[in-house]
This record gives sequence, structure tokens and C-alpha cells, in this order.
Amino acid sequence: MNRLLLLNGPNLNRLGIREPSIYGTETLKDVESSLRMLLESHGWQLDAYQSNHEGELIDSLHGAEGKYDGVIFNPAAYTHTSVALRDAISSISVPVIEVHLSNVHAREEFRHTSMLAPVCRGQIVGLGTTGYRIAALTFLEENKKG
Ligand code: DQA
Repeated sequence: MNRLLLLNGPNLNRLGIREPSIYGTETLKDVESSLRMLLESHGWQLDAYQSNHEGELIDSLHGAEGKYDGVIFNPAAYTHTSVALRDAISSISVPVIEVHLSNVHAREEFRHTSMLAPVCRGQIVGLGTTGYRIAALTFLEENKKG
């Protein structure tokens, strides 16, 4: 069975109540269940994990090797700072799609740079929670047999 890992970084546990004018009112649980429904309808499985700790996110990426067909990752603020997460993504062969709810390019300048994007399969920004589903659809499409 094909499997995806949904990985969310710091402060995303507060989705729905955190700055709703920027991040919307859907909770992380809502995101996980709509993504799970989409994937299960295609016979895929989803595991979801959120952490506020860089090292735990690194461990999750390492653990994804050999276990998942792809990772959908919103690294949140670590996007802009973490060489360690970039190296973790480079160290595995599982493709990672970077997702941001907000349009980081329309926000503060420090959000315009991603340390991770160059080593990711792709990056989706500014489409709200739809971005997670677009990432999932990309993995479904790319793993079509035949
Ligand atoms: C975010 C954008 C980041 O700049 C910010 O630090 C976040 C959320 C987004 O999904 O739009 O925590 O990754």
C-alpha cells in the first residue's frame, strides 16, 4: 500500500486559532482528516505528525526513508532558518513537497527565503489548506501505475 507522511512544524498545532486572518480557521485536525479522506479514496494511507521541535522533525524525516512514498511538509518558521532540516531532506531519497498556507512572498522579507526549497520536489505557497491536497494529488499522479 502507498503511504504519505504529513509533517507540520512549529506553531501549526495552533492552526484555526492562530492569526486566522493569515492562516484561516481550519484546524490541523480538519486538514489531516480531509487529506486522509482524499488519500484513502485512492487506496493510500496517511500518517500525520506535528512537532514544535526541530530535532523531532529531523528524526521524522529520517524515519520516512523506506516507509513512505512522499512527505508533505510545512516546516513553518524553520523554513527560513534551518540548515539541519535541509540536510535531513537531502539525506533521504523520499520526495518532500514543501507547503505554506500563506503567500510567504507577500509577507515580511525574512519569509521570502526558504532554506529547504532547493532540496524539495517542489514548493506550494499561498493556497491555504488546499495546498496540502494539491501536494497529495501530485504524489498520487506521479505514482500512477501503467
Ligand atoms: C508558514 C509560513 C511561515 O513563514 C510561518 O513561520 C509559519 C507558517 C505558512 O504555512 O504559511 O509558521 O509556513
